[in-house]
Amino acid sequence: MKRTTQEIPAALIARQREYCDEIRALSSHLPSPPLACVDTYGCQQNEADSELLRGMLAQMGYGFTQEAEEADIVILNTCAIREHAEQRVLGNVGALVHTKRRHPGQIICVCGCMAQEEHVANRLRESFRHVDLVFGPHALWRFPELLRRVLTRRGRVFETSRSDGAIAEGLPVRRSGTVKAWVSIMYGCNNFCSYCIVPYVRGRERSRDPEMILQEIRELVEAGYRDITLLGQNVNSYGKDLDCGVDFPDLLEAAAAIPGDFLLRFMTSHPKDAGDKLFDVMARCPKVAPHLHLPFQSGSSRVLAAMNRRYTREEYLSKVDALRQRIPDIVLTSDVIVGFPGETDGEFEETLTLIQQVGYDALFTFIYSPRKGTPAASLPDPRTREEKLANFNRLVAEQDRISEEKHRAYVGTVQRCLVDGRDEKGLTARTPGNRLVRLTGGDESLIGQFVRVKITSSNRWSLTGEPAE
Ligand code: SAH
Ligand code: SF4
Ligand code: F3S
Repeated sequence: MKRTTQEIPAALIARQREYCDEIRALSSHLPSPPLACVDTYGCQQNEADSELLRGMLAQMGYGFTQEAEEADIVILNTCAIREHAEQRVLGNVGALVHTKRRHPGQIICVCGCMAQEEHVANRLRESFRHVDLVFGPHALWRFPELLRRVLTRRGRVFETSRSDGAIAEGLPVRRSGTVKAWVSIMYGCNNFCSYCIVPYVRGRERSRDPEMILQEIRELVEAGYRDITLLGQNVNSYGKDLDCGVDFPDLLEAAAAIPGDFLLRFMTSHPKDAGDKLFDVMARCPKVAPHLHLPFQSGSSRVLAAMNRRYTREEYLSKVDALRQRIPDIVLTSDVIVGFPGETDGEFEETLTLIQQVGYDALFTFIYSPRKGTPAASLPDPRTREEKLANFNRLVAEQDRISEEKHRAYVGTVQRCLVDGRDEKGLTARTPGNRLVRLTGGDESLIGQFVRVKITSSNRWSLTGEPAE
């Protein structure tokens, strides 16, 4: 198979494993293993990257802790999507000065999307001198080599050079769950929505070999995973850089043909590339969950054009119709941005009517946040924060009403749910469409099983139910 994107040669990955062994040897004389604390911000892609970091750390002989205070290495895997996310990370990095003072040998590492931004890397270099290691997503596979450099030379290491990115196969992984798993199918983004930082920090779109992906899914199913999410910034672009003739719907259908009792999900679909072929596969494969996360971002075609989304309100709505014709009870969720530069009240109203027209089960709502280096950041933005917040609150209130109504319709029905864990309130499960169900009754032995659940009540966030006979 030919690809137009770069794959890291296996020999270089093997070399990283040797660095892991060298690091392990450094602490082999200690009475107990050194501890690592990995703190993850941002999207599922970052969660998946943290599972690779933990895989590498385990191979280096590290144990794990949730407490930065007792860790020998603290890693912040960061997100750059909005200002607020960045401020939170910088606040937490700052607070580690005190932790490190109490624990002088501690190593502090900042990686992920923020680290790939030049102005952030410079700030970390100049104003956060307690940070030892900084690397962007492109250097993730070289983490063992970079950490070894810090450990053996006791100097600071920054690896944030620009790159289009590559594919690194064969890294060790330590998964956080036993029921649900992430599988990255592609990395990067070529869409350059005018507000978004992701294409700048994650590089160009590149797809993993379909056989590698299918093999990973087979292994997960054999290991007992029941809910598998295929990840990419725009999964519908999958395969464009490969010349094997496999696109995303083909991959999804091949994955759904793997034997076993499991559900497949995927995130995220860009509306411009989601179409009938995908919807047909979703409709005919029972293992593909009846859920689509289809971010619309704005209900106004003028704003969508300024966002460089490359679809109109009408095109978006007609895709939703095409999908609903095939799967009438599809669960739809979405992302939306309020207060894009120049958005008028009239345009905001179009967003409001769009969510009423579609009737999403849940919505992730964001206030526009200017990102340095993106085209939207230099557009005139005359509206005040208060004006944007007022619109934002109206949107959230309207969606709360819709979600509450959607959830109420489940009451009295029986759903085949996957029991996925427990929290402080008890056992949790998910409907096929991924709505949260709190179980009354049942015990831990149900975790990891599909169970028929009678839904007894609901609110705007979740459903409550009991195992049905
Ligand atoms: N690749 C995904 C989105 C990843 S970012 C997609 O295209 O759908 C997740 C969400 O964050 C986006 O859908 C968008 O709604 C929001 N977002 C991205 N950049 C933003 C910004 N600068 N300000 C506010 N919200 C933003
Ligand atoms: Fe960002 Fe757009 Fe790419 Fe999504 S598709 S990651 S919003 S540039
Ligand atoms: Fe954030 Fe990077 Fe994901 S910017 S949303 S962690 S791709």
